[in-house]
Amino acid sequence: MNMHATTHDELHAEMSDKFDTDAMAQESTLLNPRFYTTAFDELDRIDVTPVRAEWDKLIGQMKSDPNKGHFKKNADWDKVDWEGMEPKLKREFIDFLVSSCTAEFSGCVLYKEMKRRGKNPDICELFNYMARDEARHAGFINDALREAGVAVNLGFLTKAKKYTYFRPKFIYYATYLSEKIGYARYITIYRHLEANPEQRFHPIFKWFKEWCNDEFSHGEAFALLMRTDPKLTESFANKLWIRFFLTAVYSTMYVRDHARPAFHEALGVDIDWYDQEVFRKTSEIAKQVFPMELDIDHPRWMPNLKRMERAFRKIEAGAKQGGVAGQIAKFAAGAQAAWAFVALYTIPVKKSTPPVSVRLEPAY
Ligand SMILES: [Fe+2]
Ligand SMILES: [Fe+2]
Repeated sequence: MNMHATTHDELHAEMSDKFDTDAMAQESTLLNPRFYTTAFDELDRIDVTPVRAEWDKLIGQMKSDPNKGHFKKNADWDKVDWEGMEPKLKREFIDFLVSSCTAEFSGCVLYKEMKRRGKNPDICELFNYMARDEARHAGFINDALREAGVAVNLGFLTKAKKYTYFRPKFIYYATYLSEKIGYARYITIYRHLEANPEQRFHPIFKWFKEWCNDEFSHGEAFALLMRTDPKLTESFANKLWIRFFLTAVYSTMYVRDHARPAFHEALGVDIDWYDQEVFRKTSEIAKQVFPMELDIDHPRWMPNLKRMERAFRKIEAGAKQGGVAGQIAKFAAGAQAAWAFVALYTIPVKKSTPPVSVRLEPAY
C-alpha cells in the first residue's frame, strides 16, 4: 500500500458514507474516463498561421468568457431529495456524476499541464481558457456531489490516477471527439428535459445548455489544430486511426450508458435512442474535420454494439466471480468483445469532404 492510499483510507474512515467516490473516480478500467499525458513540446511547436483568422475569432470568444457567472448555484437550483431517492437511481446517478466530474477534471489537468509547459503564446492562451472552463465544470459537479454527502477529492485524484500517454495526434482525435460528444450528450439531455420537465429529477441538468457551449468551442479549437496539418486527417494511416477512435469512443459510450438503466429510466430516455442520437449529432459535427463518418445505420452496427455490451457484462461478472473459472470467463468474454469491436470497425465508412472553412456554431 502506498502513502496516498493510506492517507486516503484514513480520510475515508472519517466519512461514514457508503459511496467510495474517490475509488470510483480513481478506477482505471477500459471504460472509465482516463487521465492523459502527451509530448507537450511537440504540441507546443504547432503554428496556427494557416488558420489564423478563424483562430483569433475563437480565442476572442473564449477570452470574452461568456460563461463566467454561469457555474454557480442560484434560485434555479431546486432542493434535491437525496434521502428520498430510489437507491438504485441514487447509486447510478452518483456514478454518472463521479464519472462526469473525472472526465471534466481529466481535461482540466491535461490542458493546464500544456499551458504550464508551453512557450507558444497561441497554444498557451488556448489551453489556459480550456483549463479554466474544465475546472469550473468539475467544480460544479463536485458541488452537486457534496450535497449528497460525497465528493471527489480532485487533488488526490491528480496524484493517484494513472496517466495514459498518447502521441499528440491521438490527443487531437480523442480529445476532439470527447469534446464534441460531450456537447452532443449534454445538449440532447437538455433538449429532452426541456420538452419533458417533469423528468428533470436534479437541477444540474438546467445548466447543461451553456455548459455544452464550452465543450463545443473546445472541440472547435481541436478542429483548428488538426487543420494546421492536413496529413493528420488525410493520410491513409491516419484515416484508419480516426476510424479506430470513432469506433472506440462510440462503443465505449454505448457500454457505459447501458450500465446505468435506472438513471436513464428516471430521465425518460431510451438508451439506444439516446446513444444513436448523440452519435448522429457528433458524426454530423465531426464532418467539419474528419473525411468520413461511421455508418451507424448499417445492419451490423446495433447488433455488434449489443454483443459488445453483453461481453462487458460477462467480463464484470467474471471479475466478481474470481478464481480460475472467473479468469476463464473473463478471457472468453474479452475475446467476444474484441470480435464485436472488429465487426464494428470493419463496417464500411461513409466518406465525405470537410468544408473549406472549418468553424461551426452550436446548432442543436
Ligand atoms: Fe467540460
Ligand atoms: Fe471541454
